[in-house]
Amino acid sequence: MRILSFSCRNFRNLEELSVSDFDEMNVICGENAQGKTNMLEGLWLFTGMKSFRGAKDSEYVFFGREKSDLKLSFVSGGIKNDAGLEITARRQAALNGKKLKAVSELAGKFNAAVFSPSDSEIVGGGPSLRRKFIDSAIGQIYPAYISLIKNYTRAVTQRNSIIKDYKNDGSLSVMLDVFENEIASGAQKIIKFRRRYIEKIKNFLPDIYGGISSGKERLDAEYILSYEGDNLADVLKQTRIRDMYTGSTSAGPHRDDIEFKINGIPARSFGSQGQKRSVALALKLCEAEIIKNVSGEYPVFLLDDVMSELDPERQSYILNHIKGIQAFITCCDPSNIQNLKQGKIINIKNGQVV
Ligand SMILES: Nc1ncnc2c1ncn2[C@@H]1O[C@H](COP(=O)(O)OP(=O)(O)OP(=O)(O)O)[C@@H](O)[C@H]1O
Ligand SMILES: [Mg+2]
Repeated sequence: MRILSFSCRNFRNLEELSVSDFDEMNVICGENAQGKTNMLEGLWLFTGMKSFRGAKDSEYVFFGREKSDLKLSFVSGGIKNDAGLEITARRQAALNGKKLKAVSELAGKFNAAVFSPSDSEIVGGGPSLRRKFIDSAIGQIYPAYISLIKNYTRAVTQRNSIIKDYKNDGSLSVMLDVFENEIASGAQKIIKFRRRYIEKIKNFLPDIYGGISSGKERLDAEYILSYEGDNLADVLKQTRIRDMYTGSTSAGPHRDDIEFKINGIPARSFGSQGQKRSVALALKLCEAEIIKNVSGEYPVFLLDDVMSELDPERQSYILNHIKGIQAFITCCDPSNIQNLKQGKIINIKNGQVV
């Protein structure tokens, strides 16, 4: 996947912006609040997904204007594509001159992976963020996994809704059996997918994390089950009395976790800021490798403010060793890109390229 040109009008503070002749590595430079992240966001919206900043459609339009227009030319599978987005209170997309019924139809046509500073939370935050990361990474390559998760979540919700009443009504036991068997069979499949994905990640980690840390650190990933034993249905039967009081289901993939260890030490509790950021970035790079293995092509990489908190060696790895992947990196501090050997620098000031 490679972007050839991007232009937009009245998109956030980018009143009129047009950039072409992109390189493999593209650095978007400028002071705070000039429009760097806005440009990345503009590129990202062509994936057909919601913004990585959680914005509403109406927030994209330049204050006081009627609509935003964005255009993107990109090459995918050797073929040039022209996509357009028109944003008012909602988004409308067109691809190669044809209006699409829904923006989500752009998904899979233009692929991008985005990294923003909050992604370090995948390493330092609660387990739900790690589950969200792995589930969305798996869902991107195996859409069937998304319905697997949906069905599983529904079965857990159903169990939760009756477990409280089990206190007063023992006859609910039969229904609990049904839901618990459903939970257990879904869990088995979900855990298999997740473990397989972690194995895939682990294939790439020595190269990628070794590269980021200049061979000084070794990163390991392990899937942590929320229960002991092989049979989740049996486990759930045993936890009924406890769950009855909380109205929740205390074991299953919705409570599992992933542990990352740097040189054998848990990164969540002991990792430094820069290490957490490096791990999160390594995971995104692994994700890109896995997408490439499945689809034959790397996604475009959008890296927001990744340079701060990283030492010059780590910065240099990002700038010079992400090979074969087109990347767009925002950066406020010119000294962070002194080590850039080859690439395009786009300077943005007050929403304009200067
Ligand atoms: N709909 C909008 N219309 C006009 N301006 C907007 C709109 N939405 C956001 N902005 C402005 O865009 C400016 C630049 O935002 P952006 O997040 O791109 O900055 P940045 O260059 O990434 O800065 P930083 O280095 O601090 O991350 C902000 O000051 C914001 O007020
Ligand atoms: Mg920014």
